[in-house]
Amino acid sequence: MRIAIVGATGEVGRMMLTCLEENNVQISDLDLYASKRSQGSTLYYIDNPVKVQTLTEASLLKHYDYVFFSAGAGIAKTFAPIAAEASELVIDNSSGFRQEQHIPLVVPAVNGDLLAGYNGIVANPNCSTIQIVLPLAVLDKLFGLKQLVVSTYQSVSGSGHQGIVALQNQRKGSVDKGIYPHIIDLNVIPQIGGFLDSGYSQEEEKMHFESRKILRLPELKVSVTTVRVPVIYGHSASVYAEFEREVDMHQAEHALQQASTIVYYPNSYITPLDLGNSNDSHTCRLRLGCDSKSLSFWNVGNNVRLGAAANAVEIFKMHRQLKAE
Ligand SMILES: NC(=O)c1ccc[n+]([C@@H]2O[C@H](COP(=O)([O-])OP(=O)(O)OC[C@H]3O[C@@H](n4cnc5c(N)ncnc54)[C@H](OP(=O)(O)O)[C@@H]3O)[C@@H](O)[C@H]2O)c1
Repeated sequence: MRIAIVGATGEVGRMMLTCLEENNVQISDLDLYASKRSQGSTLYYIDNPVKVQTLTEASLLKHYDYVFFSAGAGIAKTFAPIAAEASELVIDNSSGFRQEQHIPLVVPAVNGDLLAGYNGIVANPNCSTIQIVLPLAVLDKLFGLKQLVVSTYQSVSGSGHQGIVALQNQRKGSVDKGIYPHIIDLNVIPQIGGFLDSGYSQEEEKMHFESRKILRLPELKVSVTTVRVPVIYGHSASVYAEFEREVDMHQAEHALQQASTIVYYPNSYITPLDLGNSNDSHTCRLRLGCDSKSLSFWNVGNNVRLGAAANAVEIFKMHRQLKAE
């Protein structure tokens, strides 16, 4: 198996190596790419040292079975099409291709069928979207999802390594805002990305668009408020969902308990600090919403794992499995 990771030194890239390792993926040829800054540094795959190389167009003319990108939308837009020409499947973590109609936006447990017979670029969705669509897909199947109101509580690692650095420096007394519009330590910032004419932020609009695309519900009404909080790893979301049909609480609980990639907590809840190395979407505090056709719940997921690297590796695994069938 020949694999390349672009952005290997970042939060997501490093976790991608960990997730591939955890799945015991045997790689005969592994190339790790990053910016010039990382040229020559060493990362490890199952105890084997691998030197990081500077990304160039020529690097991606080589044939790989799978190329993982986690280096931002700009790099993906320039280099992923080159990789897609030469290699079988390119899995991109950025927002660069998610809105393109012909590019599948995949959470394997929800719409992994899109990978059957597909080669080219696959988009990995936004981190907060991945964790909420998993339980929402289960509930949609039961009751018909109609409308969604979500507030997120997103950790600083969601902004990449620089987000963690900003929070850690501020905790030591720095008053440098770093990459954020305000101090994040001991604070809450209701802005992720720039604001658009709609009044929503870029992150909020991503969640609107991506929820509809992944759930295949183009008419779904969605309103999201995304908020940065001083947590290092783990995004949380408060979700209010309205349905076409009456909700049966026992049926909802049973289906969530049975679903893969979901951990359901009937009588307790989880916080980001409790997540550990989990790749699951943790769903708790399920209760009726405003009426018998609505539900509210709390959801927590590791943004770097479930929200990025682990989902990318699940895409890889499902693509291989479908190909072998
Ligand atoms: N963090 C999350 O929770 C999360 C979740 C979902 C999706 N994503 C997406 O995943 C991507 C990576 O995020 P991250 O959190 O891993 O960010 P990060 O920690 O800032 O890492 C960025 C990576 O991109 C590389 N890079 C930067 N400029 C480059 C260049 N000119 N050429 C080649 N490589 C370059 C960096 O290499 P150097 O180390 O050499 O600078 C580093 O490996 C982003 O698109 C992000 O939106 C992140």
